[in-house]
Amino acid sequence: MSNQPSLDLQTLTSLCKRRGFLFQSSEIYGGLASTWDYGPLGVELKNNVKAAWWKHFVWERDDMVGLDASILMHPDVWRASGHAAHFSDPLVECRECNLRFRADHLMPWKVYGKMGRQKDFLGYVTDINPEWSLSDEADSWHYALARKRGYKDHVAKPTEKSVGELIDSSDIPCPSCKSVGSFTEPRQFNQMLTTHLGPVQDDASLTFLRPETAQGIFVNFDNVITATRRRPPFGIAQIGKAFRNEITTGNFIFRTREFEIMEIEFFVKPGEDNEWHERWTRECMAWYTELGLDQARLRLRPHEPDELAHYSKATSDIEYKFPWGWGEIQGIANRADFDLRAHTQASGQALSYFDDAAKQHVVPYVIEPSAGVDRAVMAFLADAYTEEEAVSAKGKPETRVLLKLHPTLAPVKVAVLPLSRNERLAPTAREVHHLVRRSGAIDGLVQYDDAQSIGRRYRRQDEVGTPLCVTVDFDTLDDQAVTVRDRDTMTQDRVAIEGLAQELRRRLE
Ligand code: GAP
Repeated sequence: MSNQPSLDLQTLTSLCKRRGFLFQSSEIYGGLASTWDYGPLGVELKNNVKAAWWKHFVWERDDMVGLDASILMHPDVWRASGHAAHFSDPLVECRECNLRFRADHLMPWKVYGKMGRQKDFLGYVTDINPEWSLSDEADSWHYALARKRGYKDHVAKPTEKSVGELIDSSDIPCPSCKSVGSFTEPRQFNQMLTTHLGPVQDDASLTFLRPETAQGIFVNFDNVITATRRRPPFGIAQIGKAFRNEITTGNFIFRTREFEIMEIEFFVKPGEDNEWHERWTRECMAWYTELGLDQARLRLRPHEPDELAHYSKATSDIEYKFPWGWGEIQGIANRADFDLRAHTQASGQALSYFDDAAKQHVVPYVIEPSAGVDRAVMAFLADAYTEEEAVSAKGKPETRVLLKLHPTLAPVKVAVLPLSRNERLAPTAREVHHLVRRSGAIDGLVQYDDAQSIGRRYRRQDEVGTPLCVTVDFDTLDDQAVTVRDRDTMTQDRVAIEGLAQELRRRLE
């Protein structure tokens, strides 16, 4: 029985801390808001997500190459790309308490507040008082738009103008101090984080921490096609950190100011872009379900024209139904030739390829599948969380918590457990551990665990999603065989130590 429908964020957060998936950053100093550190198991899970993505979209394709561009780039990159001017959110400040909010997050609150369904969109708003209810906005254009589009749990990102109109004319109380009519006019707040390079901190040394990895790919387009002799259709993939000075953050690792993106810029002939856009949307969706995400908790949401990013001709989001509601885990955008033309114009360097058939230089169009690593981690964790009725070693009913993670993603692939911490069992158990770990058959962490009773150790491994446990008992000393226990079915089979690693590999596959 999956407990996911009633899974709350607190349950997931505390499991993650207790078992070493995620810790609050700088916790001993009181923590830094919405920054998180991946613990010993978290880093394994996150690396497995990235490795699975890279294997699937780079190694297993003929039309893809990789790149790892630097985080710091020439500031002109961000002027040319439009980020300096357009990468912003509408911000309002409460004149009473001086707290700041994203204006477009307050509007859905009005709508849902009226409907008494605040919980449905808590993913959009974090600085919200759950007790808050509102009076009179159900007929706003915003709700009407959402209703027209058939969205029950989502409303479109509004424009700055419409936000301004609504906030001016409305009675939205401040989510923090509840003052009414206290918001300033919305103003655009640029999300790029800045820093200074070199010893002098002036305008000339000002630069940005990249808000997306994409620009590192665009500015290297000519280098890559020269080095690899690639021609469209082909893509450049990259995984790396991005930074955004989000006005509101929260929902654990869903919206943070430092996060990782797995991104592809796929270059195609102009005119073939719509077809490739659809193809990439299908392929990206399939990646999540192949790694075990429940199809019923995934949906595709095309952007309305008024919510498209400044570079986008069309975008579809893949959304996952998190414990608090639907949230974007990936966007697939058609960026057309916006970026390559912008950089060509600003840098003077032509970013195009020679089309042999057409005998002319062509600026390709770009399809961009862009996925958040941390959001994928969170979706895989939430989806895997399961509670089952079980019976303890002492015969008492208990709840078994397990993470039904796909074996490819599981942070620990196999745990080797001596039946008890016994000096007769330890040498054989250590030998089995060594043998499995060094066999080359298991692609990931093989853990040795002998602390506490065997029942507790099984539960501990279930709770972190370990697919297989290998138990060394006293019979092992005679029959040179061990017990292999399956996480999901809890079935146990006797398997000979000889050939054990290959058998474990077979079961993990
Ligand atoms: N180059 C396109 C681009 O960056 P985006 O939709 O702004 O597109 C890509 O970001 C993905 O990064 C999103 O689909 C989301 O999964 C993730 N993401 C965006 N902002 C984030 C944040 N503040 N915290 C965590 N993940 C974020």
